[in-house]
Amino acid sequence: MRVDLNGKTALVTGAARGIGRAIADTLAANGARVAYTDIAGEGAQQAAADKPGCAGRRMDVTDAADIEAAIRWVRETFGGLDILVNNAGVNTTRNRVTLDQFPKEEWDWIVNTDLTGCYQVTHAAAPALFDRGGGRIVNIASVFGLVPARLQCAFVAAKAGVVNLTKAMALEFAERGVLVNAIAPGSIPLDSPQQQLFAGKDPLMKDRTEAMLAHIPLHRFGTCQDVANAALFLAAPENSYITGAVLTVDGGWTAGYSRDF
Ligand SMILES: NC(=O)c1ccc[n+]([C@@H]2O[C@H](COP(=O)([O-])OP(=O)(O)OC[C@H]3O[C@@H](n4cnc5c(N)ncnc54)[C@H](O)[C@@H]3O)[C@@H](O)[C@H]2O)c1
Repeated sequence: MRVDLNGKTALVTGAARGIGRAIADTLAANGARVAYTDIAGEGAQQAAADKPGCAGRRMDVTDAADIEAAIRWVRETFGGLDILVNNAGVNTTRNRVTLDQFPKEEWDWIVNTDLTGCYQVTHAAAPALFDRGGGRIVNIASVFGLVPARLQCAFVAAKAGVVNLTKAMALEFAERGVLVNAIAPGSIPLDSPQQQLFAGKDPLMKDRTEAMLAHIPLHRFGTCQDVANAALFLAAPENSYITGAVLTVDGGWTAGYSRDF
């Protein structure tokens, strides 16, 4: 899909790698000047380096002072802001345990990053969007924010929060011309070793991979580009009447039971 984002500036959080990187690259490829931000500042700078008109810097979405400084930098570097993509997010890798055993510090880390981070960055960036007379916000939630899974209580709670926060933002910002939507990705394998397990690249995980795929009507995992294409549409001027929506990008996973009864 091609849209014309020339003259638009976008800020993407968690843009050093994975889904955020794909979204930032796709917005840039469609003409936007993109501020690549990430807690991994060097990674954000490297990701932006070969994109004309783009730049990168560190921004930790859990750190209010860091966020304020980054938004100032965006205004100074790009002259304003039209599109905000709240993508930065974390989930538990070690502690796949039931809630009674789930460590408080792990809960705080995930909720602070995935939910409070979305609030904090939007709180700081919204005036820049208002100054432009409107814009687009895309929040990256998860299918687990719609239908929870076991053993990741903080993530499912935080992402459910992102879903409802998106709708509240849409209600509040409509009169300012800012359209706010969420994307709920399904399973998007990345390059990390742990994620590769689920991509079926490890023979030991074949059964588990097949079990996961059995729940996905399109019978494949998603890609970062699948999510980026959805973000591009929601961020584009062509999206002029969708706000407060949650777009699942999950191969049909949450459409219903992918089995016959
Ligand atoms: N990959 C999936 O299957 C999947 C599924 C559903 C939702 N998501 C969501 O998609 C988003 C992107 O995740 P991903 O899969 O690309 O993961 P990822 O780990 O590859 O990328 C996340 C990025 O966020 C950055 N980040 C982490 N903490 C941060 C902080 N405090 N401040 C700023 N940046 C921070 C990381 O450095 C990293 O670059 C997340 O919100 C995630 O919850 C992913």
